[in-house]
Amino acid sequence: MKLISPSLLSADFGQLGRDIEMLNASECDWLHVDVMDGMFVPNISFGQPVVKHIKRYAKKPLDVHLMIMDPGRYVNDFKEAGADILTVHYEACIHLDRTLHAIKDAGMKCGVVLNPGTPVALLEDTIQLCDVVLLMSVNPGFGGQKFIENTYEKVRQLKALCNRKNPLCLIEVDGGVNTSNAPLLFDAGADVLVAGNAVFKSDNPQQTIHDLKQ
Ligand code: DX5
Ligand code: ZN
Repeated sequence: MKLISPSLLSADFGQLGRDIEMLNASECDWLHVDVMDGMFVPNISFGQPVVKHIKRYAKKPLDVHLMIMDPGRYVNDFKEAGADILTVHYEACIHLDRTLHAIKDAGMKCGVVLNPGTPVALLEDTIQLCDVVLLMSVNPGFGGQKFIENTYEKVRQLKALCNRKNPLCLIEVDGGVNTSNAPLLFDAGADVLVAGNAVFKSDNPQQTIHDLKQ
């Protein structure tokens, strides 16, 4: 599968409605929504009230990436705000199995996110529950960072794990994705690519989304 999930972190927050309309009219598949708490990552972005407004405009599923400590506390809040896919960091959950079940029980697709320093092998006992696994290809917290090359190897390892235990699980990659590395990531086995700066700093965002899918 070749899906694109543009990250609204790089959108113009003063013109979110306009930027979402642009994405609605593009070939993108999901809208990636980065929630940061200033604890799990150094940065603070936005929370449920803003997600609720994004939902009012969006015509595509909201792919909500929680970069917050103990995200299990907020599962129902993000369901109410309009999340369709909710991903939580392995590093931020003490009771990961419980949190994944809570997301499913709330009626959303669930996924685990791994930081660049967290091995794929740690998913051995949760991969069965995942609709998606998100591999960070930068250290989370900011848009516009440089892609970490070791990600290709992690995508291949994750693909092997999915083939063995959950072939329906999607592989998503987030951070520093652009039109140069996108084909290599899809070749390695990625299904969904997140792109912030590559889309929103482009002169023609809709064309860039089209190019990323090729
Ligand atoms: C980083 C966020 C990403 C970010 C990607 O912590 O999770 O989703 O917005 O932005 P780019 O594509 O610019 O690296
Ligand atoms: Zn993200």
